[in-house]
Amino acid sequence: MSIRAITDLDVAGNRLVVRADLNVPMAEGRVSDATRITRFAEGMKPLLARGAALVILSHFGRPKGATDPALSLRYIRDDLSRALGCPVKFASLDEAGEAAAALQPRQVLLVENVRFEPGEERNDPALAARLAALGDIYVNDAFSCAHRAHASTAAIAELMQATAGPLMMAELAALTRALEVPQPPSVAIVGGAKVSSKIAVLKHLVTKVDHVIVGGGMANTFLFADGAPMGRSLHEADEVETVKAIRALAAKHGCTIHLPPDVVVAREFKARAASETVAANACPADAMILDAGPAAVAAFRDVLAGARTILWNGPLGAFEMEPFDAATVALARTAADLTRAGLCVSVAGGGDTVAALNAAGVTAQFTYVSTAGGAFLEWLEGRVLPGIAALDAAPTAA
Ligand code: 3PG
Ligand code: MG
Repeated sequence: MSIRAITDLDVAGNRLVVRADLNVPMAEGRVSDATRITRFAEGMKPLLARGAALVILSHFGRPKGATDPALSLRYIRDDLSRALGCPVKFASLDEAGEAAAALQPRQVLLVENVRFEPGEERNDPALAARLAALGDIYVNDAFSCAHRAHASTAAIAELMQATAGPLMMAELAALTRALEVPQPPSVAIVGGAKVSSKIAVLKHLVTKVDHVIVGGGMANTFLFADGAPMGRSLHEADEVETVKAIRALAAKHGCTIHLPPDVVVAREFKARAASETVAANACPADAMILDAGPAAVAAFRDVLAGARTILWNGPLGAFEMEPFDAATVALARTAADLTRAGLCVSVAGGGDTVAALNAAGVTAQFTYVSTAGGAFLEWLEGRVLPGIAALDAAPTAA
């Protein structure tokens, strides 16, 4: 790939049109997890210090091309300002041309939710031209939006010098280290509810890594395919052929698939429900599997202990409910310990993964934890992400 990093350019006196992902979770009108904002801001501060001005574009929620006041980026402005340590001006797209032209070096303008524009999701060149006119250099710092071919992530990169931001570069470096050129032995931990939503991920991973540990509801479907009774456990009876195909592909590529030898079962799907540990092929008819058991944790730990590369996507059990978070937490701590000891590179991301690692209190100890959801999964599927391809193909001359 030939992607230019904005940090390699002399940005003094330039106006940067920066695509960020400020699509943060909100609760009761407040930002409930500011990780995306703070990480983005950390990367922008040095550019501001070097004399750049920033015009920041982002989406927020899914307004589908219409103005929805509840999804205004105004609500993010104060958090962004705090994280950047400077005032942030705000403008609708109609006002943005004038506001951007008036920016002095080290000043910041946040533009209203780009998905209020019908052209955004259509990747409309006319909208891209309006966005490109807001500055001199395009910076895509939103890896987590790179699976979308939208005007602010794709079409705009054809219209002006296009570069990757610091957060985008960090994501690409971490994912490349974990999946494109992993140090062997490499282990992928793949959890989550359904095989059907991760068929492409599993099929790609078994061609890339040495071991795949399967957890969560997905492991149930693998166990079911091997003839284990499921009781009332979540599983997908119609994905047995898929499981067989994944196993065949793994065998062909020398990848070992690991399933839990024991499981924790309960009669009720609720926190602190009475539970017991049984062999993986012995789920009682009236019970459901909610976590991997202690023998599984021990076996999975042995797999991790020899690993040089660990890639993690998805929880191993119903981690939102104690005590069914036990296997996820135990394995997350093991991965964190191995990383801290310098024995492996650990990269995690996608969907519930960050929440699970936060619950285990180990996020900071992983080599890299991505805040991307769909984009992380599509990367794990081996797909070309349009936002990355657009940077790769972009003109590099000033
Ligand atoms: C995300 O939250 O995963 C990104 O911001 C992308 O949002 P989207 O799925 O609405 O495109
Ligand atoms: Mg370029």
